[in-house]
Order: sequence, then structure tokens, then C-alpha cells
Amino acid sequence: MSELKPRRLARDEGPAFAKTVELCFGTVATQDTIAATVAQEFDEDWAIGVYDSGDLVATAGVTPFDLALPAAPGSPLPSVRAAGVTCVGVLPTHRRRGLLTKMMGFQYAQFREREMALAILTASESSIYGRFGYGLATTHASLEVATKRSGFRELPHLEAEPAGKMRVIGKEEAAKVVPGVHAEARRSRPGEVDRGEARWAGMLEDPERDRHGDGARMFVVHEDASGSPDGYASFRHVWSREGAWKVRHAAIVEDLYALSPAVHANLWRFLLDIDLVEELSVPDRPMDEPLRWMLADPRQLRTVAARDMLWAKLVDVRAALGARGYGAETQLVIEVNGPGTSEGAERYCLETGPGGGSCRRARSGERTDLVLGLADLGAIYLGGCKPSVLACAGRLHEGRPGALVRADAAFSSPLAPYCGTHF
Ligand SMILES: CC(C)(COP(=O)(O)OP(=O)(O)OC[C@H]1O[C@@H](n2cnc3c(N)ncnc32)[C@H](O)[C@@H]1OP(=O)(O)O)[C@@H](O)C(=O)NCCC(=O)NCCS
Repeated sequence: MSELKPRRLARDEGPAFAKTVELCFGTVATQDTIAATVAQEFDEDWAIGVYDSGDLVATAGVTPFDLALPAAPGSPLPSVRAAGVTCVGVLPTHRRRGLLTKMMGFQYAQFREREMALAILTASESSIYGRFGYGLATTHASLEVATKRSGFRELPHLEAEPAGKMRVIGKEEAAKVVPGVHAEARRSRPGEVDRGEARWAGMLEDPERDRHGDGARMFVVHEDASGSPDGYASFRHVWSREGAWKVRHAAIVEDLYALSPAVHANLWRFLLDIDLVEELSVPDRPMDEPLRWMLADPRQLRTVAARDMLWAKLVDVRAALGARGYGAETQLVIEVNGPGTSEGAERYCLETGPGGGSCRRARSGERTDLVLGLADLGAIYLGGCKPSVLACAGRLHEGRPGALVRADAAFSSPLAPYCGTHF
């Protein structure tokens, strides 16, 4: 077999790209799914593929995102433009021959050439991307709440019930209202990305084929006293047969964004009080979702899974470390090595302060504080994992006593990083 190499794809190769992606994930494309993938995932500036004798056998794409980053105390969250790697697949006939490895190398060159400081992705299997320098940067919690005994305890410091009202709205109205609320709310948590028009169009379309027999997506929006939307949730009803006569009725909560704690509480109250619904199933929420602390009987909320969501790779270590804010003022000399780096081990000097971070190459006389792999730097980058946890796991070395305490404080994030957008 002649050597197979990745190359960029042209606009008219979008349908072939969509068909190959679906085959890689075990489904057969239809006109509708091809149109949806081309509209939402195929960016001809970034899409790449590998051909074998005229057949497209491997694909990868990128959606550029604006990614919210941890801030210095009291400052607004900064953000960085990140390459969102997506549609990665190799046909079953061509696996384990190095095609993914070649595509990852091709993309890395693209990122560096186009000065993307960071690349992010969500992984179908968590064993795939560490070898390419991606670290597990955000985790989300899957929750189940039994609604019957879900009353709130006293919440003395929550503002009184916000003046305003809750409205259940259709998708046409949601299209006008909901993206604006999301755009504002997502800026308050590291890890959140923007949702472009095509992504919103796909989410709002809610085609039957994506429902797996569940109800249609519904929206509830909260409006403040002046009628301005300041929070929303999307959810769908689910019915499952339990024996011949009993149907279990649950609701899946897909999105919940609020501009204040009071509106957040009101949205949960609405969802927990929907008549007939016995259980709320919430596939992904931030690890520090406050609902547990609001319930009179917190055991009614069960965390049924904690799953990796965003994987992050610092493509340009200096630019990426310089882009985020830090929780403490310090100086750290960091040696970064391991898979995914282009030039082997490199040492950087990071200085953090109230104005952010600045990062340069370390000088030869400067003593190393931390030694870690590029993927490990990705894992601590958004504040989802403490450097001291990686040290305890045997993945990070403290070169100087006290360095870990300083690194924990600097890399911390008051809010757990979370990404509520699947891509
Ligand atoms: C995952 C996938 C893209 C891998 O492609 P591939 O061309 O077979 O990968 P490569 O041959 O380049 O493998 C590179 C290395 O990763 C390892 N690897 C590949 N897929 C792996 C997996 N699913 N789990 C663990 N390791 C994996 C290989 O064993 C190889 O290891 P080595 O370097 O030690 O030999 C391919 O199996 C696929 O399309 N799977 C279904 C769709 C999917 O899951 N896509 C990823 C979306 S996030």
C-alpha cells in the first residue's frame, strides 16, 4: 500500500467528509445528516482527510471557539481562541496503521502556523488523546434527582424570589431569546465555549432522529421584572415502560443557564415541580453544581457519574499560560516534557500577579519548580485538577519544596471549570 497522507479538504468534499465520519461512528449517513454535519461541523479552512484509492478513509475537523479561562480574583474571565478538534475518525478497515497519528501531526502544524495557543476536544474514549499531549481539563457530573422529596431547605441569603416570571416557550421564540442568555452566562465559568449560529440552529432543530424515542426539547425561560430574559433551561420528557401497566415518567435536563443565583434556584424549582415527573435526569452539570446544597434532603440528589469532558493541549505554552488569570502571585519555573511536545523538554518561567500571567523561556541558572508532561499542563490549565493531585498520582515532580503549594494557589479556579457544549 502506498503511503497514505492527510491533506486539506475542499468545500465540495463536505458530503464525503460527513459520510466517512458517520461510518466511523457506526451509522449510515442520510441526506439530512449529511446536510447537518456539513452545516455544523465542516469548516473548509480546517477540515482534513486521508484518501485511499479514491475513498476518503479518515477525517478530522476543527471548530474555532472562544474559550473562557480562569481569572485573577475580582477580574472578569479572560478568554482565548481555541481550536476545537472534532469529527475525528478512521474507517474500521484502516485502523491501527497510524492514520490518527498522522492527522494529529498535520493538525498540530496547522495550529502552530495559524498561531492557535490552545486546542481542545471531547473524546469518544479517554484512552486516545493523552499520547498527543491532550490533558483531561474538565469533568462533569451526571445527576439524578428524585422529585417527590426535593423541597429546598431555608436559603436565607438567596435574594427574595426575583420579580419576574417563568414562561415555557417554543423553539422559534427560544431561537431569539436563549442564545443571548447563554452568551452572557457562559462568560462566568472557565471551560465554557461560545455556540455559533450553526450550532444553535442544529440544537434548536431537535430532529426526531436524535431523540431516541424521548419527547421533543422544551424551553423554559425566566424573565426579569422588565421582561428581559435572565435564565433558561431546556429539557425533554422521557417515558419508559416498567411492566405491563406502569410507565415511568422522567425528564432529562439538557441546559440550564442563569444570570443570578436566584434565577438559578427558580429554574431548578420549576424543573423539580413538573407534575407527573418522578425523576430528573441531568447528564452533565458542573462538579460544583449548588443544587445539592439547596435541597432539604440532599440525598435525593445522586451523582451517578463523573465523566471527562474537555481535553486541552497547550499548543503554544507561553501564549496559553499568558492568556489566563491566576489565583495567586508567584513565580514558577516549569519543565514541560513528554508526548505531544514538538521540541522535547522545554523550561518556562511563569510569573503570575493580579494583572495575569507572563511566561518566557527559563534561563539556565533558574531552578526548576515543577516537572510535568504537556498533557498534565493541559489538565491543570483550567483549574480542574490541582498540581498537587498530579504529584500524588505520580505524574508531576516538585523540584523545590513549597512549589506545589504555590502552584496549587496560582492555578486554582474558584468555580469548577465546565463545558456545557458538546462538539
Ligand atoms: C480512535 C481512532 C480515530 C484511532 O485511529 P487509528 O488510525 O487507528 O489510530 P493510530 O493507528 O494512529 O493509533 C495511534 C496510537 O493510539 C492507540 N489507539 C488508537 N485508538 C485507540 C483507542 N480507541 N483506545 C486506546 N488506544 C488507541 C493505538 O494503539 C496507537 O498506539 P501506539 O502508538 O502505542 O501504537 C479510530 O479507532 C476510530 O475512528 N474510532 C472510532 C471513532 C472514534 O472514536 N473517533 C474518535 C473521536 S474523539
